[in-house]
Amino acid sequence: MQGTMATAAPTASQSEVLASLYAPIAAELSEVERRLRAELRSHDPFVDELVRYGCLLGGKRLRPALLLLTAQALGGRVTADQITLATVVEMIHTATLVHDDVLDDARMRRHLATVNARWDNEASVLLGDFLFTHAFYLASTLDSVIGCRLIGRATNLVCEGELRQKGTKGRFDVSEAEYFEIIAAKTAALTAVSCELGALTSGADESLVRDMEHFGRELGIAFQIADDLLDVLGEEQVTGKSLGTDLEKQKPTLPVIRGLARAEPAERQRLLKMLQAPQGANGALVACLQRLGAIDETRQQASEYARRARQRLQRLEATPARDVLTMLCEFVVSRPM
Ligand code: IPE
Ligand code: IPE
Ligand code: MG
Ligand code: MG
Repeated sequence: MQGTMATAAPTASQSEVLASLYAPIAAELSEVERRLRAELRSHDPFVDELVRYGCLLGGKRLRPALLLLTAQALGGRVTADQITLATVVEMIHTATLVHDDVLDDARMRRHLATVNARWDNEASVLLGDFLFTHAFYLASTLDSVIGCRLIGRATNLVCEGELRQKGTKGRFDVSEAEYFEIIAAKTAALTAVSCELGALTSGADESLVRDMEHFGRELGIAFQIADDLLDVLGEEQVTGKSLGTDLEKQKPTLPVIRGLARAEPAERQRLLKMLQAPQGANGALVACLQRLGAIDETRQQASEYARRARQRLQRLEATPARDVLTMLCEFVVSRPM
């Protein structure tokens, strides 16, 4: 086992931004934290340490927050079942991260060494499985099967998205349509189902449930485009995770796809050469993408999806929870973490 790689914790100001955004659901989110701690334990000291390390580290808790906020915006109050579903979506999300860090050979996550860096890939595969299975067990304890069914379908889409992404490795001729389909699956399926379930379990009518599902999907797409920009431009000390891994793993993300589309033939060849000899986000590559306008255009695309998401909220009554959902549209595209 290697030593931990603790880096600076998120700066106070970023944690404060999130804490103040989440104010209307602060009590419910604390309950989700308590449930995560209560559910994820083991009598075996090795397993217990791994489980605690892997899943009790705080992330942004965006998916449970979305579920709780949509529940509050549409139902007024949050039920015990909705707390359980919020706990389930965070467990699934964490499982995908633990596995994703194996795929990406990432060394840092949530400001600590990844499970694969601190233990190894075997521990990560098994911990991810433990989290996935516990999440579905927990969802199945509810009287209604709808949460289990919808989260099961969404998780399956997440896995399919990660598989499709694996299939595009090194294929820099992939279309933008394919890129959007992949991120809609690997990232936005879970944000969409979080919002859909918050609305559905609050008894909202069908058309509002669909609005919230679309809201979650568009927000998730904006979030992943911004994440793909962070991979190229962000700071590891601030994001708390390994960056540059998309380039190292030769994933065709939007900044790269746009850069190649905008480049003249000679520059395109130079760019392809840099992409095929990956060394993370090196200065020459980033400068090239910037010169081609690919960074600005990618930022505009993220903002466009955030704008579409915001519009989906129009039919919701004015409540503090709706205001937070509106502010999250801005947060996901301007976040430094
Ligand atoms: C990271 O998600 C994975 C992506 C979909 C980009 P988050 O950025 O929400 O991760 P945590 O939960 O805050 O660590
Ligand atoms: C998101 O993609 C992965 C999942 C949906 C699990 P990334 O590979 O970009 O996520 P980060 O950047 O490692 O958090
Ligand atoms: Mg990754
Ligand atoms: Mg990323």
